[in-house]
Amino acid sequence: MQISMTVNGEDITREIEPRVLLVHFIRDVLRLTGTHWGCDTSNCGTCVVLMDGLPVKSCTVLAAMADGHAITTVEGLATGAKLDPVQQGFMEEHGLQCGFCTPGMMLTARALLDRNPHPDDGEIREAISGQMCRCTGYATIVRSVKWAAEHPAAQETTGEEVTA
Ligand code: FES
Ligand code: FES
Repeated sequence: MQISMTVNGEDITREIEPRVLLVHFIRDVLRLTGTHWGCDTSNCGTCVVLMDGLPVKSCTVLAAMADGHAITTVEGLATGAKLDPVQQGFMEEHGLQCGFCTPGMMLTARALLDRNPHPDDGEIREAISGQMCRCTGYATIVRSVKWAAEHPAAQETTGEEVTA
């Protein structure tokens, strides 16, 4: 079957098998490997992408269900040389260690801040409650999202160095 969608602002059309999951379509067909695949049980949340601005676990969505929708992956968070404040917040507040959970965490954080620009700690923890991090203990992730809320303007970066 043929599907069409917008991925990170780009219109794409591909032939797929109807059974293909969105996470595999993103990783294996589009080669956007920033979206991670961490479980077979819909528990870990590392596969989260935004569909029409809302976080979805892409391992629970058929690629065919994304037909006609707008998908944002972690590769679409930055705008040119400008990091999304969420990306910068994770860097400033050390919101990652191994980084495996990070793409999904950042996309969930972006969706949260888009609907609630000033979340408190409880609201941030509730937003990321569908996602697991085996490294950070979550405190630095919460601080990273709060940093992004307090610094809504993206910063210019070369990709190697960012000044606050
Ligand atoms: S890969 Fe674990 S919830 Fe999707
Ligand atoms: S940073 Fe390693 S799982 Fe979250």
